[in-house]
Amino acid sequence: TKQIGTPRPSIHFAPRRHWINDPNGLVYYGNRYHLFFQHNPEGDTHGNMSWGHATSCDLVHWQEHPVAISHTEEEEVFSGSTVFDEANSSGLGNAQNPPLVAIYTSAYRAERRQAQSLAYSTDGGRTWARYHGNPVLDRGSSDFRDPKVFRYTLGDGPYWVMVAVEAAARQVVLYRSDDLKSWTYLSSYGPAGAVGGVWECPDLFPLPVDGDAEQQRWVLLISLNPGGVAGGSGTQYVVGQFDGIRFTPDEPLETLSGEREPLEGLAWLDWGRDCYAGVTFSGLPLHERILMAWMSNWDYAHAVPTTPWRGMMTTARRLTLRSIGGRARLCAEPVLPPGRVAEELAPCTLANGESLVVQLPDVARIDFRIRALETASVELRGSDGSVMLTFDGASGRIHLDRRSADVMGHPLYPSIDTAPSLTRGSMLDATIVLDTGSVEIFADQGSRNFTDLAFLGEARVLTMHAVAGSVSVDELRVLNLEAR
Ligand code: FRU
Repeated sequence: TKQIGTPRPSIHFAPRRHWINDPNGLVYYGNRYHLFFQHNPEGDTHGNMSWGHATSCDLVHWQEHPVAISHTEEEEVFSGSTVFDEANSSGLGNAQNPPLVAIYTSAYRAERRQAQSLAYSTDGGRTWARYHGNPVLDRGSSDFRDPKVFRYTLGDGPYWVMVAVEAAARQVVLYRSDDLKSWTYLSSYGPAGAVGGVWECPDLFPLPVDGDAEQQRWVLLISLNPGGVAGGSGTQYVVGQFDGIRFTPDEPLETLSGEREPLEGLAWLDWGRDCYAGVTFSGLPLHERILMAWMSNWDYAHAVPTTPWRGMMTTARRLTLRSIGGRARLCAEPVLPPGRVAEELAPCTLANGESLVVQLPDVARIDFRIRALETASVELRGSDGSVMLTFDGASGRIHLDRRSADVMGHPLYPSIDTAPSLTRGSMLDATIVLDTGSVEIFADQGSRNFTDLAFLGEARVLTMHAVAGSVSVDELRVLNLEAR
């Protein structure tokens, strides 16, 4: 049966209908990846916030389930996380059947107050009940939200740690608990770094540097809106140490407060426009970090021209820390289906002004490696518009221009994004993921990434062009990722 409305993406999650924003409660449990998400079950704008629910075996194909935690007359259910309480520390299940516990933000309707609450499931995430003692953590604040809870097992652990934000104060606040119900204050971080907007959806996790577990660092993710590097919503990260109480950055950060933050100096999860509120899965081995984010931007999220659904998630990305230029940098690699080779080119050289053209499948993965001393471009064009990746071999910078895919009619939508200089100068390697409504570019071994909505339409074509100087195409391969 043909779906009425805008076709949904094939390898990204989008709801059957209505509005979604942030991913919530990401947890691997019962051989399934569970994705909960901010959802308005009654309309296509932000409101009536509830947790929707979907599951997947491969992080690529998702099955949507009924709403997991519904809004009530008193509260909306804002963002948060889910843990498997294996030892039944909360007493919300029992020893034979320990619960999944969701820690979410109660956004009370009658007053502007936000506090943290619990819901639990003893049937593997299918149905959820609110804890009768809610809220479990209330600071009397109107902007205290987005709890991410993890089990801290090092030092004098184990205990539960919560990272949440005082959004307007640009602070990450940390608490600890033995039972998820009573919480003790540990410390706070910020304001520091990018503070041009409210801080939201933090996450904190350890990763080895260059795969060496002895070189473990902690990564603090902080989404902010506005003030992101590409304008509007964006996510910065800080690398440092967490000792069970306090997060200490490896390098002290200047506090910047510009509306649009500078490129170099700060560390950004993504240099594109549509990667927000990204958080990682719990329930995976300690160093296996998989992130999903909302693929939109508060600048124009309400103008996204899809129906009867609005909002989608990014690809899931495996995160690693790699030392680049003497610093540990967060890198991301998309989790994708294997696909079939649709095109593979022998190495070639494009002389100044020459192009090569490749037809693309509807859902494509494009891997390429090129060298250019001057300027090369890669254009992705469909029936409704195009986006252009430009690589300036002299500065080592890459730019993504989506002004020719302006389907939104919103002044803040057209954009050119820029990522800082590549680590390997004039050599650019990239993986491009193209699905209905989006383009994701993972460049320079996943250290310079762009995630952008892009509604290109049908019959897509890639054109690689030697804009100035010659371009060596060492590798160019296209995979068809469609599961049909
Ligand atoms: C981030 C956010 C969160 C909040 C949720 C509400 O996009 O503003 O801070 O919990 O969305 O839907």
